[in-house]
Amino acid sequence: MSVSIKSSREIELMREAGRILAMVHEELGRALKPGMSTLDIDRLGERLIRSYGCSASFKNYNGYPASICVSVNDEVVHGIPNKHRILQEGDIVSLDAGVIYNGYHSDAARTYAIGKISPEAEQLIRVTRQCFYEGIKYAKAGNHLNDISSAIQKYAESFGYGVVRDLVGHGIGDHLHEDPEVPNFSQNRRGIRLRPGMTLAIEPMINMGRADVVWMDDDWTVVTDDGSLSAHYENTILITQGEPEILSLL
Ligand code: MF3
Ligand code: CO
Repeated sequence: MSVSIKSSREIELMREAGRILAMVHEELGRALKPGMSTLDIDRLGERLIRSYGCSASFKNYNGYPASICVSVNDEVVHGIPNKHRILQEGDIVSLDAGVIYNGYHSDAARTYAIGKISPEAEQLIRVTRQCFYEGIKYAKAGNHLNDISSAIQKYAESFGYGVVRDLVGHGIGDHLHEDPEVPNFSQNRRGIRLRPGMTLAIEPMINMGRADVVWMDDDWTVVTDDGSLSAHYENTILITQGEPEILSLL
């Protein structure tokens, strides 16, 4: 396994890919409303990505048929946009998107409330976002990968939530998925040592109930086995000499 260290030129391109993706997510978040289909979200997302001179990382990736992954309620990740799937007040929806700018990828996900949702669902969304921040407290040169993973798990489980095991974060660069894998749960080894110039997509996927997930017949959509709600929060980050830089936030 080899984990690449990005050059300053590569980092500049990834900063731009991240900045554009952050703007796309902000605009998508503002557009969400009851009555919209998940395909409407995909269409808008693809249009926004192209308007910034980028292409959608996910489109046709391993055959994925859309630009944005739109996962509603018990759908964990990789929901396929569909014109018949209509967002309703009380739903939670996870949007996962990636852009390619001059050959370099960024990858980020957010979970949103549609109108008014239950306090329990609000907490799930908030804790999932905080899991990311708990993890990146350890995203510093000299620490090890498992420091990030175990911090995420510890925080999520302190709320009784299930940390998805079957999907993990990843290195990112001129490919969407690079080494290393970035689990959201502790491994029995400390993992690679973090070095400046590494770029990682850290993406906690957290279930209100048990951690188990299943794949639907469309071969993409991942849902919770127990039907509980699931949330996803992801950013592309850069390891530096000091604090990590979050590339996919403005
Ligand atoms: N953030 C997801 C990931 O890192 C998005 C990939 S969806 C796919 O795996 F369609 F591109 F596969
Ligand atoms: Co990712």
